[in-house]
Order: sequence, then C-alpha cells, then structure tokens
Amino acid sequence: MTDAKPGAKNSVTLTDNRTGRSWEFPVLDGSIGPSVIDIRKLYAETGSFTYDPGYTSTGSCESKITFIDGEAGILRHRGYAIEDLAEHSDFMEVCYLLLHGDLPNAEQKAKFVHDITYHTMVHEQLQYLYRGFRRDAHPMAVMVGVVGALSAFYHDSTDIADPHQRMIASHRLIAKMPTIAAMAFKYSLGQPFVYPKNDLSYAANFLSMCFTVPCEPYVVNPVLAKAMDRIFILHADHEQNASTSTVRMAGSSGANPFACIAAGIASLWGPAHGGANEAVLRMLGEIRTKDRIPEFIKRAKDKNDPFRLMGFGHRVYKNYDPRAAVMRRTCYEVLEELGKKNEPLLDLALELERIALDDEYFVERKLYPNVDFYSGIILQAMGFPTSIFTVLFAVARTVGWIAQWKEMVEDPEQRIGRPRQLYTGHAKRDFVPIDKRG
Ligand code: CMC
Repeated sequence: MTDAKPGAKNSVTLTDNRTGRSWEFPVLDGSIGPSVIDIRKLYAETGSFTYDPGYTSTGSCESKITFIDGEAGILRHRGYAIEDLAEHSDFMEVCYLLLHGDLPNAEQKAKFVHDITYHTMVHEQLQYLYRGFRRDAHPMAVMVGVVGALSAFYHDSTDIADPHQRMIASHRLIAKMPTIAAMAFKYSLGQPFVYPKNDLSYAANFLSMCFTVPCEPYVVNPVLAKAMDRIFILHADHEQNASTSTVRMAGSSGANPFACIAAGIASLWGPAHGGANEAVLRMLGEIRTKDRIPEFIKRAKDKNDPFRLMGFGHRVYKNYDPRAAVMRRTCYEVLEELGKKNEPLLDLALELERIALDDEYFVERKLYPNVDFYSGIILQAMGFPTSIFTVLFAVARTVGWIAQWKEMVEDPEQRIGRPRQLYTGHAKRDFVPIDKRG
C-alpha cells in the first residue's frame, strides 16, 4: 500500500479476569465504516488466540477496493455507488476501476479495452483438456480444472514478484475467462467451440461465443448484451467474501494467480455463495405455483428442515441488497425485450418476495432478497441452462478476485494466511498396537 496506514489514536483495554492483568490494543480507523481492534500482538502478549468461526467479527486485511455498509444497503467500488456504475458505466470501465483505482479517461479506456480484447483467445491445446471431461460434467467442475491448468500454459505470467507479469496475468484472466466459460458451455451441449470476435464488446462477445452455431448467423441483441454487461458489473467484486478470501489465502503462500483464481472458483461453487442463483431456479421449479408458497415459507422457518429460501439473506446485508434492486429492474427489461413479460417464474418470484418480506421471521432476521434472487430468471430467459449460472458469476467476479489478489501481493504487510484454532481433541494418548485395540 502506498498511502499512510490508518491512524491508531484510540485503544481498547482487555482484562483477563482470571489474573487481573490488562493489555491495551490499538484501534485503527478506516476512511469509512467500522474501526478494527488491532490484535496482531494478542498472542505474543496474552498467550491466547481469538475465536471467530465464520470470521463474523474478523477483518482479514486492509483494502481500498470495495466498501459495503450492510445495514444501509450500500455497495461502492473505489468510492463509486454500484447503482451509478450499473447505470452509467460499463464492465470494462469497472474492471479498470477495480484494478487501477480510478475510472479511466478515454485514452486509458481504449488501451485497456484493446489489451483485454487481444488476450481473449486461449491456447489451442486447451481444447484437448476439455475433451478429457465427460460431457455431462458440471461446467463449474470444468472451470476449476481448466482455469487451474492455465498456469501450465502461460508460464511467462506466473512470476508474482514481477509487476509486469502480474498485470499480464490479470489481463489474461479477465480476457480469457469468457472464452473458457463459453467453451465449458459449448462442451456441455456437444456443440463446436466458437472463437472470440474482436469487433464485439466484452459482453456481446461472450453471448456470441455461447450462442453462435456454425450453421447460421447469430446477431447479438443489444438489449441482452447491455443486460449481460450489467450482470457482470453487479457481480464484479464484493469485498472479502468466501471466494475472494479463498483467493487471498491461496495467494498468500505465493501461489501463481491462475491457481489462486481456480481456488476462488471452487469456493464460489457452493450453494451458500455463487451456487445460489442456480439453487433459486431449482427452488422456484419445486414451488411451481403461488398457492404452494406458504408451504415453502413454513419449511424455511422450520429449524428441523434444512430447506432455506434461496436468494434470501446475506452475511453482510441486513437490508435490501442494492445489487438485487438493479437486477430486478434488469429482469423486467430483458423479459420485456424477449416478449416474456408474463413469465410465470417472475410472477412466482415476485409473490414469494412479497410474502417473505411481510413475514415476521424474515423481517426479524432482516432477510431480504440478494443479488441471486433475480439473476437466474434473467439468465434463463436469455437461454442459459441453470448449470451455467455460477460460471457466469465466476466470469464477472474474476476481476474482483484478481484486483484483491494484486492488492494483497503489493501490500508490504502481507504474510502467509495461517489461522489458529481452539483444540478440543484428545490431549495425549499412548500408542496402542493393532492387536491390542478394542
Ligand atoms: N431462509 C431461511 N432462513 C434463513 C435464511 C434463508 N435463506 N438465511 C438465513 N436464515 C436464518 C437462519 O436460519 C438464522 O436463523 P436463527 O437466527 O433463528 O438461527 C438467521 O437467519 C441467520 O442466518 P445465518 O445462517 O446465521 O446467516 P449467515 O450470515 O451465516 O448466512 C447466507 C448467510 C447467505 C449463507 C444465508 O442467508 C443463506 O444460506 N441464504 C441462502 C443462500 C443464498 O441466497 N446465498 C447467496 C448469497 S448472495 C451471493 C453471494 O454473495 O454469493
């Protein structure tokens, strides 16, 4: 980090009531948002660790990229509100902003778009890697494998100590991810791979690689390209979520960026994280009709039933997810364009939202729709099968992962991530030979 570290004017005192000993720990203030208690010397001074499964009270790093106020429903990248970026900007600008810290001027933008566009092709040999997978493999399984394998193809950008190589790796990942995702999609359909087209925008090129077939022309619908671009913006970064923390953790050991992003993709796959958009559609399919909503609401509230309302709730947002509000509007635009305004799925989703937002259980726990509640409906209307939804999330989140990875590598205070534990296993046992074990 080049700027000064946050100031430490205040402190908190920790007293051990077993011994009466006290220690003082500095409180660090960020530019905005909650302050943090700097406990880096806690173990050295007290001999104890903190205990925080799920890291609900733990700040794992200092960052200048994304700010979230979950209570107020605020999300900002480098100071810019997500609503403004989604309305007035485009995904390439947001990528530049996340990576470089500022919105680009016209010249910077043109160069960045050129750099990304001319990295979109992947090594031809990668095709053979795809062919090793079963056609019915989940596309996220293919993504984890293929993105991890990039480090075997692009050796000249794996030296993380070289800033130029770091930047080339960042550009390669942002540029190639749509190509890799579209290839995973095509492979699952049994259709030929489609090469990128440099005269199309990032989002339009992605749609073209997904939906072009050799036997007829495919013309990208600008409304759908705009919606895709907005979906990419809304998923671009989200502070220290599970997959981003996974990328940082993997990278903290000095692993190359391709391997780190593959780790992030694996983490994103889970239904509590990026897999939720797929789970929302499965859930709506299961609910089927409005009259069955109360039954599912009841199940979601039942502690003995593992069922949860997918697309509801968030670790950080205790208010309407600002991304969900934009997504809801985009959903209307796409359905209108495709003549699917009366899509029964949207009707069902709106009714579910209405009933849940009125229900004491959801109100009390501040469970609001999150970004994934509406994205699946849009993607399905565009022609994507549910199995590809999380892959699209990975395409968009790659820039966030790589910007956070770069920030971590460039932070002089960065150390290998190595949490400790509260050990509750056997203290010590004598070894028993196998013939003496019960
Ligand atoms: N349906 C029913 N109850 C819920 C739900 C839900 N979707 N989410 C949370 N709760 C309840 C939970 O049972 C708990 O109740 P109680 O206090 O009585 O035990 C309370 O709300 C707090 O939940 P939590 O599990 O402690 O909250 P968390 O911060 O650990 O989990 C979450 C956050 C997103 C994993 C969770 O809300 C969830 O599983 N939601 C559904 C999956 C989903 O939509 N995920 C997408 C997240 S947004 C995209 C992304 O960032 O990846």
